[in-house]
Amino acid sequence: KRVILVGPPGCGKGTQSPILKEEHCLCHLATGDMLRAAVAQKTPLGLEAKAAMEKGALVSDDLVVGIIDDALKRPSCSKGFILDGFPRTVVQAQKLDAALEKQGVKIDKVLNFEIDDAILEERITGRWIHPASGRSYHSKFAPPKVEGRDDITGEPLIQRKDDTVEVLQKRLTSFHEQTTPVIDYYQQKGVVKNIEAAKPANEVTDYIRKTLDSPN
Ligand code: AP5
Ligand code: ZN
Repeated sequence: KRVILVGPPGCGKGTQSPILKEEHCLCHLATGDMLRAAVAQKTPLGLEAKAAMEKGALVSDDLVVGIIDDALKRPSCSKGFILDGFPRTVVQAQKLDAALEKQGVKIDKVLNFEIDDAILEERITGRWIHPASGRSYHSKFAPPKVEGRDDITGEPLIQRKDDTVEVLQKRLTSFHEQTTPVIDYYQQKGVVKNIEAAKPANEVTDYIRKTLDSPN
């Protein structure tokens, strides 16, 4: 299966991805996680992406298309993948389609996480992440077993630099202006499935399972 997760900051893409990845043996490509790793390692790519990310703007299409193109060539991605946070502009979507066409494959489903902006502030400001794995927790909705520690490795959790109320507003604006047209783009191809992302995480998971298992 080749699946795209699309939705605003905090809608639950990163929460649902690891579950889908496990159950469907798909490779999980999250451009946000990849970019944060590049920033942390101070690679040339990271240095270029850092400023845009910190102010809640999108990183340039060329840069993210480059990292996705490379990742899609991995043998582990040949059977299927989940794209989390990509494509985020129509240009990115067109470039992705062109790359997939060369491989003779196409996107099966685009899961559109629908949720009101008003709910997202609490989700974003309460989020804690384990940087090495990308696992996310929430102080109220998904607390770790030990406060401030990752459940699996016991390593410390951190808050993302862009998870402030101010930067969230900018990320929401980027989403509405640049990413909503991506949903329309895939709607025309008939592959969009709407997900009620305001529901509790386990209900969202169940619904996604059904959606992925259904043939159309
Ligand atoms: P990215 O990392 O992709 O961030 P985002 O899209 O803003 O999404 P988030 O990771 O904030 O939200 P999420 O949906 O994963 O939420 P989560 O599951 O963690 O991108 C960051 C930046 O990188 C961008 O701003 C941009 O600069 C750059 N970038 C990335 N991709 C790019 C691209 N393609 N082009 C250009 N630039 C790009 O959930 C949030 C919280 O809520 C968690 O604490 C979680 O525990 C909790 N939660 C989740 N689900 C539920 C639920 N159902 N009920 C209650 N709580 C829940
Ligand atoms: Zn995420």
